[in-house]
Amino acid sequence: MILLNPGPVTLSERVRRSLLNPDLCHREAEFFDLQEELRAGLLGVYGLDPQQWIAVLMTGSGTAAVESMIASLPPQTAHLLVLENGVYGERMTRICEQYRIAHEVLAGSWLAAPDLGALAQRLARGGFTHLAAVHHETTTGRLTDIAALSRVCAAHSVQLLLDGVSSFGAEPIDFADTGLAAVAATANKCLHGVPGASFVIARRSALSRAVSRTYYLDLARQARLQDERNTPFTPAVHVYYGLREALREYQEQGGRAARFARYAALAEQVRAGLAQLHIEALLPVRDSSVVLRAYHLPRELRYAELHDGLKADGFVIYAGQGDLSRTLFRISTMGAIGADDVRRLLESFRRLART
Ligand SMILES: Cc1ncc(COP(=O)(O)O)c(C=O)c1O
Repeated sequence: MILLNPGPVTLSERVRRSLLNPDLCHREAEFFDLQEELRAGLLGVYGLDPQQWIAVLMTGSGTAAVESMIASLPPQTAHLLVLENGVYGERMTRICEQYRIAHEVLAGSWLAAPDLGALAQRLARGGFTHLAAVHHETTTGRLTDIAALSRVCAAHSVQLLLDGVSSFGAEPIDFADTGLAAVAATANKCLHGVPGASFVIARRSALSRAVSRTYYLDLARQARLQDERNTPFTPAVHVYYGLREALREYQEQGGRAARFARYAALAEQVRAGLAQLHIEALLPVRDSSVVLRAYHLPRELRYAELHDGLKADGFVIYAGQGDLSRTLFRISTMGAIGADDVRRLLESFRRLART
């Protein structure tokens, strides 16, 4: 089965086989070697300086990392602004509510780019310490211009907390931007690992002011113990094996620039092929990620029919979220897939669109 949902992704044989590595106790030196290789490898994805940045690994899905970042990095006196333009921005607001973190919301249409003018005005009113935003809003496939976002943040001395769950490893992220405090992400999207491991890449200066609002997801404690070749809990050891192999493969395949180029080519192949069938993308290419695109459902096909027809041919696509489920479907081109898979996908589409 070829997975075209936005994670978990189709694994390479090499990553799948790595799950069969020997059983390993997480209190043994071999586990801490593995943990260290992963933490260094994650910083290596964007070539980050370990003096300035730290990778904190955790067992849990992408939401665990986002929750850990938001519940740990803002100090008690913090005041967050949450930028919402889809499901995952809304989730960050729910996390703020859950931990009673002082926050306000700047909500925009799910179908429009965040309004940077409105954002600057809101920040200029003062009092905000952090902005929480989603880099790639997987709800619609929209890529937010984080360079512009961090410029606005830097102008108002506000720190940016970024949900990079569906962009880290493929899309450009300029960690040199002084406004950027942390990025939360996961193993099983653009890095092509297995679900169950996630991580926060935090600026060390931001981590030094972290507070402890949560027990399991306490970022500062996890960072401290991991620095001491330790771990607070039992990690998903075999998932970590998968991430190690995925990171090795990622670098051998040319790193971030190569992954971006590969996704861009596959996403364009899908877009152009579907356009020939008069199935149009929701967003223009300039506003879209290379990771996932949303498409208008053809009038003559219900989503369930499309999904089931494609699944019978070996492809899993993804529904729209919320109200968009009736009008959209989504296709991600992450994972160990290639141009030939996309060609066969388009043949299936052609057949289903005819029947
Ligand atoms: C942008 C974004 N944030 C957060 C999440 C949540 O990740 P998970 O389902 O791994 O918890 C997702 C999942 O698709 C996502 O795309």
